[in-house]
Amino acid sequence: MSIIILIDLIKEVNMEIKGKCALITGGSRGIGRETAVEIAKRGGNIGINFKSRREDAEEVSKICESLGAQVILLQGDVSKRDDVKKIIKEFVDKFGRLDILVNNAGIAPTNTKLLDISEDEWDEIIDINLKSMFLVTKEALPYIPDGGKIINLSSIAGKMGGTIGPHYAASKAGIIGFTFALASELAPRKVNVNAVAPGPVDTELVSDDVKKRLSELTPLKRIATPYEIAHTIIYLIENDFVHGEVVDVNGGRYMD
Ligand SMILES: NC(=O)c1ccc[n+]([C@@H]2O[C@H](COP(=O)([O-])OP(=O)(O)OC[C@H]3O[C@@H](n4cnc5c(N)ncnc54)[C@H](OP(=O)(O)O)[C@@H]3O)[C@@H](O)[C@H]2O)c1
Repeated sequence: MSIIILIDLIKEVNMEIKGKCALITGGSRGIGRETAVEIAKRGGNIGINFKSRREDAEEVSKICESLGAQVILLQGDVSKRDDVKKIIKEFVDKFGRLDILVNNAGIAPTNTKLLDISEDEWDEIIDINLKSMFLVTKEALPYIPDGGKIINLSSIAGKMGGTIGPHYAASKAGIIGFTFALASELAPRKVNVNAVAPGPVDTELVSDDVKKRLSELTPLKRIATPYEIAHTIIYLIENDFVHGEVVDVNGGRYMD
């Protein structure tokens, strides 16, 4: 087989989003919302999970539908096993399979210093940011076909500690280990598993004061837009040979 024919074949096997079905946890706001819109623009169908803010989810749904996507809204807390079972069942009842899983839902903590953090706050952060990925991925995996995609939202904090608390940093570092282990496990099925590690992003997750402080600490002197993170997620969906990777998007704040 000539090199040119081989390259053409490889181009064909890289995932085309058109017609694929994607579940985005925490798809109603911020990075998840922007990712839903970018998938819709490329012809994908979307399950938008959210926890409580239905109006926001409905707004994203309308935008995606206006771009031609089929959409299902999936309310539920991704840290609760029964909610996760319901979310996946409703998604699969509608679409029949789950080609792309974006494990994005997450929260920032109230307290940042160890001595101020209660056991309940520690558990809440770990459960919503990290355990949710285990629950959602485990429930979704039987419906993810060979060649599917899993993208997990970590953070710069998972690599260098960050500034919003050891429980947040531990949850995001855990996601990196989870991503590596799952990438090894799922390689035989050609299911790509990767993570994105953003620096601060202009969403509601962090306060304006924190955004201002972190902009000053960033070499490029600003924080990321949600689109810049969604763009990275799209790249990971569309490229079949990036596997077991953690992609930094942080304006040069942390380089490794
Ligand atoms: N923003 C940043 O600076 C930054 C930096 C690095 C990494 N990240 C990570 O990127 C991801 C998205 O962050 P974001 O900034 O886009 O957050 P965001 O704007 O605050 O949006 C969070 C989304 O997650 C949903 N959510 C929260 N808890 C949930 C739960 N228990 N079950 C289901 N859905 C839940 C929210 O739903 P409701 O609207 O119903 O509450 C919302 O859709 C998170 O994992 C975050 O840790 C963010």
